[in-house]
Amino acid sequence: MILSNVLQRVAAGSPVRVRTPAIFDPASAPANEIASYALLVIGICAALFLVVGGLTFYALLRFRARPGDDEREPPQIYASSQIEIAWTVVPIVIVFLLALVTARTILVLQKDEAPIGSLEITAIGHQWWWEFHYPEYGFTTANELHIPLSDPSDPWPTFLDLQSQDVIHSFWVPRLSGKTDVVPNRTNHLWMAPTQPGVYVGQCAEYCGTQHAGMLLRVVVESRADFERWVERQRGPAVSRASLASEQALFEATACISCHRIRGTRAQGRFGPDLTHLMSRETLGAGVARNDRSNLIQWVASPDHFKPGALMPAMQLPPDQVERIVDYLVSLE
Ligand code: CUA
Repeated sequence: MILSNVLQRVAAGSPVRVRTPAIFDPASAPANEIASYALLVIGICAALFLVVGGLTFYALLRFRARPGDDEREPPQIYASSQIEIAWTVVPIVIVFLLALVTARTILVLQKDEAPIGSLEITAIGHQWWWEFHYPEYGFTTANELHIPLSDPSDPWPTFLDLQSQDVIHSFWVPRLSGKTDVVPNRTNHLWMAPTQPGVYVGQCAEYCGTQHAGMLLRVVVESRADFERWVERQRGPAVSRASLASEQALFEATACISCHRIRGTRAQGRFGPDLTHLMSRETLGAGVARNDRSNLIQWVASPDHFKPGALMPAMQLPPDQVERIVDYLVSLE
């Protein structure tokens, strides 16, 4: 059962090829700072390991027991001031150095207020998906965050206010920024200023229930012009096509509308993802499947198929109604 689920997911295909997230392959401030900090700490620790390990190894070889040694204990040396000063001062200097670079990196990472000229977005963690509000532009989307490139000569950083609707989640897109917990009744912050366009994948990084592993994130970093075009499209209400009037009416007659919002229609629910421009997203169910007609049919018929334990119920609709509802959903571009 689990294997068949996995195989079906593979068949559903990864929508866009994206590089594996890696903190040593940063594409943004402050991920750059985190990567160089991590390299520095690893470098210092590796040097320490080599020195201590090397000396230990040398002593083991050089002073090992040899045939013909007498059985007496070697001379015991006490109170060598030079050695004691050396092994006290050197670690103090190292710890002090590490504390300073740590403090410096934390200062760069933590900003409690949005820098002037940044794009502010509110990200809300839900079991098990992400909601993104763009208050400046007055729209809401889900799971796929679009942000602009931040050219160092013309910076446009993104500043996130992180909130949770239910339990503790954690927002983590390794190539763009550090991991930040998303905690109920509290607003945490995170910023990023990406310098390379592309799609960056991330993952909820705090165990939050059954579908924690299915709480994926995609961040689309695009040029200023592309970003502005995307914003224009998202701001508009949903398209209503006369040819799909009966499909839309069917959708609006279901309980779907008490959880989902489609701006410009009767669907005004807030519990689930905003579907106004559903088809502008590459994936379904917070990244668990490609967003296309056949997967949507599967998803509406039985969300558990892709995402066992998902809080969206199977609506038990007859198959022909599911198809008609999906006909309407795929028109939401
Ligand atoms: Cu949300 Cu783990």
